[in-house]
Amino acid sequence: MRPVAAELTEIDNRTSVGHSLWLTPRSGWEEQPEPGQFVMVSLPHPPTGFGQEVCDAVPMSVAGWEPGRLRLTVKNLGPTSAALLACKPSDMLAVTGPLGRGFSLKATQPLLMGGGVGAPPLLFLAQRLAAQGMEPVTLLGGATDDEIFHCDEFPGTVEIATDDGSAGHHGYVTDLLDNHNPDVLYSCGPEPMLVKGLEWALANDVRAELCLERYMACGVGLCGVCTIDSKLVCQDGPVLGSEQLEHSMEFGKVVREAGGIVRHTA
Ligand SMILES: Cc1cc2nc3c(=O)[nH]c(=O)nc-3n(C[C@H](O)[C@H](O)[C@H](O)COP(=O)(O)OP(=O)(O)OC[C@H]3O[C@@H](n4cnc5c(N)ncnc54)[C@H](O)[C@@H]3O)c2cc1C
Ligand code: FES
Repeated sequence: MRPVAAELTEIDNRTSVGHSLWLTPRSGWEEQPEPGQFVMVSLPHPPTGFGQEVCDAVPMSVAGWEPGRLRLTVKNLGPTSAALLACKPSDMLAVTGPLGRGFSLKATQPLLMGGGVGAPPLLFLAQRLAAQGMEPVTLLGGATDDEIFHCDEFPGTVEIATDDGSAGHHGYVTDLLDNHNPDVLYSCGPEPMLVKGLEWALANDVRAELCLERYMACGVGLCGVCTIDSKLVCQDGPVLGSEQLEHSMEFGKVVREAGGIVRHTA
C-alpha cells in the first residue's frame, strides 16, 4: 500500500490541545475505512520550526469518513503532532491506509469508553452503530474539560469524567462503568484505562474490544516495534478482543518506544 497525497480542506473541533483535520485524498485511495482502523499520515513538507524530530509518518485513527473525505483528530503531544496541527487548509499531506483491524460492530447494547485522544475512533464507531439503529452509550474521560474531544458530536448518551472535576464526574472515566450493563465494551485510550476496562469486562462477563495506541514506526508489519506478545498491533490490531489480551504478558506492563526500546510500566 502506497502513500496517497491528501489535501487539508477543513479544520474543526478546536480545543486548546488539538483539533480535527478533514483531508481529501487524491486518486489512489480505494477503500472505505472501518471504525478502529488507522492511517499513517506524513508531512511531505513539514512546516518550519518543529526541528529534526518530526517523524516520517505517525499513526492516526480515522475519526470520520464521508465519501471522498477523511477526518483525523490530532492532539498536540510532540513535534510531529504539533507540525500536523500547524498545517493550514490547502496544505498537502500524505496518508497510507486504511490500516489494521477495526471494531466488530456486533453489539446489541454497546458501551463505548474513551480517554483523551481515544475519543476520535469511538466517534466514528458511534456514528456507525447509530446508523445501524443502535443507541450507543459513551463514557468520555480526560484530564480537563478541554481535553475531551467530540463531546457534542456523539449520537446517543454521553457521560463525562475529568481528573480535575472541571466537567462531569470528578475522577476516572472507569469509575462510570459500574452504572452500565452492556453486552460489548468498546474502548480506546491510555493503556492503564484499557487495562481497567478489560478487568471490569472480564469480571462482568462482557466482551471487550480494545483499540491500542501503541508506538508505531512503519504501520504495515515491517519493523516489529508495535509487538505485543506475539502480535503486531498494526496488523493484528489495533483493535484486540478480550480473549486476545486477558492472558497477555505485556498488555499494561511493557511498551516499546522508538528504536524498539522496551520500557516496563508495571
Ligand atoms: C493506532 C494508533 C492510533 C492513534 N490515533 C491517534 C489519534 O487519533 N490522534 C492522536 O492525536 N494521536 C493518535 N495516536 C498517537 C499518535 O500517533 C502519537 O501522538 C504521535 O505518534 C506522537 O508523535 P509526536 O512526534 O507528536 O510526539 P512524540 O515526540 O513521538 O511523543 C510525545 C509524547 O507522546 C507520547 N506518545 C508517543 N506515541 C504515543 C502513542 N502511540 N500513544 C500515546 N502516547 C504516545 C510519547 O511517549 C511522548 O510522551 C495513535 C497511535 C496509534 C498507534
Ligand atoms: S509498526 Fe512496524 S510492525 Fe507494526
